[in-house]
Amino acid sequence: MIKSNLLIATSSLNYTNQALDELRLLDKGLKAVGNLGNGMIVLEPALDKHEFNRIVVQNKPVFVRHINTVDYIISTNGEVAPRDIIQTIDSYDSQILKGFKVAVQIRKANAALINSPLEIKRFIDEYISEKYCAVPVIKEPDKVISILAANDKCYIGISDVSSNLSSWSGGMIHYKKDDNDISRAKFKLMEAIYVFDINMTVIGSALDLGAAPGGWTSVLLDYGIAVTAVDTGDMDQRLLENENLSFIKGNVSDVKLSSCSFDMLTSDISWNPINTAKMAVECSDALKADGIAVVTVKLMNSKIGRTIKGVKNIYSEKFDILGAKQLFHNRDEITLYMKKR
Ligand SMILES: C[S@@+](CC[C@H](N)C(=O)[O-])C[C@H]1O[C@@H](n2cnc3c(N)ncnc32)[C@H](O)[C@@H]1O
Repeated sequence: MIKSNLLIATSSLNYTNQALDELRLLDKGLKAVGNLGNGMIVLEPALDKHEFNRIVVQNKPVFVRHINTVDYIISTNGEVAPRDIIQTIDSYDSQILKGFKVAVQIRKANAALINSPLEIKRFIDEYISEKYCAVPVIKEPDKVISILAANDKCYIGISDVSSNLSSWSGGMIHYKKDDNDISRAKFKLMEAIYVFDINMTVIGSALDLGAAPGGWTSVLLDYGIAVTAVDTGDMDQRLLENENLSFIKGNVSDVKLSSCSFDMLTSDISWNPINTAKMAVECSDALKADGIAVVTVKLMNSKIGRTIKGVKNIYSEKFDILGAKQLFHNRDEITLYMKKR
């Protein structure tokens, strides 16, 4: 068991470079000392790991979805032994878990051997509940025990959930799939609402741009919101029967909307991000003052930094940008959360 000043950062698989770039801005001496696959990078900061972690959380990175400190590395000989993990947990201050809601989050790197992570989790859950009076939970923990099994090592850390950027293991928010889902795109809006902590109960009306086949629209309708959806394509027939939905079939740039009629604007238009932003800004007159917006920004070319900067400049004419994040359900895109000025 070796003490460590490492952290593990997680981003989408194809965006580890962007994640590393934004982290290096926060610690010039930061080194990436291992790539564990699936967007997981082992980091060695020049700063103390807790200080670096604090700065990362404060700076709200776009591409880093999850981060956790590594307190100990144990050798595994290819197989994680639950008893070794327990022994490691016992080496912390005995008060660290006492009475807290604790999530044990186990992940594995590419090619790591870990038989039945669920059984290991159950074993640890039982142990910490008996020995430390901890309350094992999956959602909304106070503390997280992060365990990452790599080929011949296991990285272990205990942190406050607020330090990890996400309470979910690796920032991977999983929603239950249902055969009746209109489209999987709905998970992007559900995740945005959760991650940006958007109060949907105050939203009475929404304008959904690039809405077809209607995943986002279905989420909005489920909140009881009156939705005006715009798309050149067709909406799912099941939604068209909903009396809370008005569908305008056509190009967003051609629609005429009354001003100040909506509490929320959503846009998931699959087009050039700069042109999409200009179109959405033109529609923003239809939003009430202080209305909110959730929009995706498609990252279509290699000039990602420049695209994001250009898009933010366009939206900034009318909006304050409250959040920008590559969500777990975003592929080649990020999501912005904004408020109309
Ligand atoms: C990713 S899909 C939207 C998925 C949708 N949010 C859902 O949850 O089902 C992108 C949509 O943008 C629409 N679109 C692209 N350019 C458009 C434009 N200029 N005007 C209207 N719709 C547009 C496409 O027809 C397509 O249906």
